[in-house]
Amino acid sequence: MALFNFFAKPLTSVIGIDIGSSAIKIVQIKKQNGQAVLETYGELSLGPYANATIGQAVILPPEKIANALVDLMREKEVNVTTNKCGISIPFASSLMSVIEMPAVSTKQLGLMVPIEARKYIPVPISEVALDWSIVPRSEVKIEDYPEGTPPDTGLATPVNIPKVDILVVAIHNDTIARYTDIVQKAGLAAGFFEIEIFSTMRAVLDDTLSPVMIMDMGAASTKLYIVERGITKASHTVNRGSQDITSNISKSLGLPLEKSEIMKRQIGATGEDKTMTEIIRLTLDYIFEEANHALLSFEKKYNKTVSKVILVGGGAALKGLSELAKANFNTDTVQANPFNKLATPAFLENILKETGPEFAVAIGAALRKLAEEE
Ligand SMILES: Nc1ncnc2c1ncn2[C@@H]1O[C@H](COP(=O)(O)OP(=O)(O)OP(=O)(O)O)[C@@H](O)[C@H]1O
Ligand SMILES: [Mg+2]
Repeated sequence: MALFNFFAKPLTSVIGIDIGSSAIKIVQIKKQNGQAVLETYGELSLGPYANATIGQAVILPPEKIANALVDLMREKEVNVTTNKCGISIPFASSLMSVIEMPAVSTKQLGLMVPIEARKYIPVPISEVALDWSIVPRSEVKIEDYPEGTPPDTGLATPVNIPKVDILVVAIHNDTIARYTDIVQKAGLAAGFFEIEIFSTMRAVLDDTLSPVMIMDMGAASTKLYIVERGITKASHTVNRGSQDITSNISKSLGLPLEKSEIMKRQIGATGEDKTMTEIIRLTLDYIFEEANHALLSFEKKYNKTVSKVILVGGGAALKGLSELAKANFNTDTVQANPFNKLATPAFLENILKETGPEFAVAIGAALRKLAEEE
């Protein structure tokens, strides 16, 4: 009989895993004195597992992803010590909509939401795993009623019919099967699969109430999310990413991809090397244009201003990107620093700030897993 172990709960370590198209990112954290503490982190490029170069997006079968995961966890400098994890899955594997429902009991909503969701999901409902959550509304506004006045309820005092917004998320069963396969092959114990947007939000958002735009620049694409009070109001994927910069450098300067990737990272778009900045801008300007478009159409639709743009993803680590982004977006633009959600050693501060944008997704997944362990 263990009489005394009620206060001797061992510290649990957990990992967050982000399997990106070009690299796997992993972060191990634990809870200590009420704080999430960084234990270890690491990243592994997937290109070399598919005869491509570092920084390129590749498509790999589950067993190769599992091998890469195991390689990364065992790397001497990384040395992950647990298999308890939360895993992020690509935004592209999900379908998301916000639907409006009457504010009935959760049990009733459980019956109504799947029926209503059929209208928004273009594949048979039996082929997807459906998840939903209530988005609390601060108020039900008068303009929510077609005639501008609340309907007559027959009661002495007219009352507003409360409504709720429901965020519905669907993931295709094939995607879940693929990730379950990866988890098994890599010997992991996964608590959940979470669409990367939610992991990112947890890792980078503060308690700003006004809308912000998150721009995740990956290898093959750039994802844009406009988020307000913790809910995604709009999202858009631009089919350009940081690997397009590398291939433009390669084509323009007649250099191999490996060399171009190194030059991209070393020189960047600070303006010191004019040619390099020009080449990089070919891709960035395209992305900015689409981002501006997404931003403007959100602002027009909701009559609200986006107060901040937060840059994440490996592509956001590009030298000079912040300045160019600031000049483009007429609003506050910052590079995400998700490691500041964790207690970290002071001597790592600069390096964690630099590499932070890349680890946003993995940190967010780890934070959720840690919370679920309690
Ligand atoms: N220091 C750096 N400077 C410039 N570019 C960088 C730097 N570090 C990484 N990158 C680029 O960032 C890209 C990878 O970013 P990231 O790891 O966020 O992508 P991913 O998560 O694999 O992609 P996705 O989310 O689209 O699946 C690569 O194309 C790489 O060349
Ligand atoms: Mg990514």
